[in-house]
Amino acid sequence: MKEQLAKIKAEALAAFEAAADPAALDALRVKYLGKKGALTAVLKQMGKLSPEERPAMGQLANEVRAALESAIEEGGRRLAAAALEAKLKAEAVDVTVPGKTPVLGHKHPMYIALDEIKDIFVGMGFTVLDGPEVELTTYNFDKLNAGEGHPSRDWSDTFYFDKEERVMLRSQTSPMQVRAMETMPLPIRIIAPGRVYRKDEVDATHSPMFHQVEGMVIDKGVTMADLKGTLNAVVQGLYGEGTKTRFRPHHFPFTEPSCEMDVQCHKCGGVGCPTCKGEGWIELLGAGMIHPRVLEMAGIDPDVWSGWAFGFGLERTAMRRFRIDDLRLIFENDVRFLEQF
Ligand code: DAH
Repeated sequence: MKEQLAKIKAEALAAFEAAADPAALDALRVKYLGKKGALTAVLKQMGKLSPEERPAMGQLANEVRAALESAIEEGGRRLAAAALEAKLKAEAVDVTVPGKTPVLGHKHPMYIALDEIKDIFVGMGFTVLDGPEVELTTYNFDKLNAGEGHPSRDWSDTFYFDKEERVMLRSQTSPMQVRAMETMPLPIRIIAPGRVYRKDEVDATHSPMFHQVEGMVIDKGVTMADLKGTLNAVVQGLYGEGTKTRFRPHHFPFTEPSCEMDVQCHKCGGVGCPTCKGEGWIELLGAGMIHPRVLEMAGIDPDVWSGWAFGFGLERTAMRRFRIDDLRLIFENDVRFLEQF
């Protein structure tokens, strides 16, 4: 029995040493120390020994068991350390490998133009506002003096969300005038760029979604001369010193008097060419003195305060700025086009 125990011990220790992974080690534990294991089998024969032999053999058997148990524990630690080592090696990152340079995009030409426009206005003390594209009809029309029956409210032009015509995609950025008047302390100087929506078919100059930039000033003693002076300064900043403009009378429900501003054609210098359709001038924006009713509806006393406002199409302005001849190029996001700016 003594030899048997010595043999089991030697064999088991060697096997534990050679175990390649935790599962193999566990199988060996069962093989030697389990209920039907080799050591247990020897211990079961203890009963056959004489009472004199038993204590010494019992002690020896216990020593073998203790030796095997601690060897298994040691083997477990060794395998765990080896597994960790292997994992670290597999996941190692070589920080000396040169990186891949990511391809950086750049600003869309329309937003380059918008940034230039914002810079000019911010330099003159204007605040840039953002507002909802899903707008209440009240703000898009009623509070801008375009009441029931006004032609611009027609279903054929406007994206309404409901039969009652209470909610719509804004058809102009002008509702931002009212939102500013209702929330900001006077005096006010704002621009509000953003998307607007109309039921237009897509072609070289139209899209059902486009961008406008709204502008508004309300202060005491503000006149049409301020409007002309400011807009002329903006055009010089955007299209260069000496760019000529002209103002024509027009009609908008929310301004009185109203006007449109044209710039002299950059292609022909005013002689007339296909770009300006022979006119020599290109329409740039709508503007005017804010209608006293619009001020009143927003709770501003038109006898104390006056103001002017304007709105222009951002795509058209950017197209002129960068000599782009088709509106669709602005929205198609063809990198071959975008890379040119
Ligand atoms: N909202 C007008 C449009 O979409 C443009 C406009 C004209 C805005 C006159 C104004 C303005 O603020 O005073 O055609």
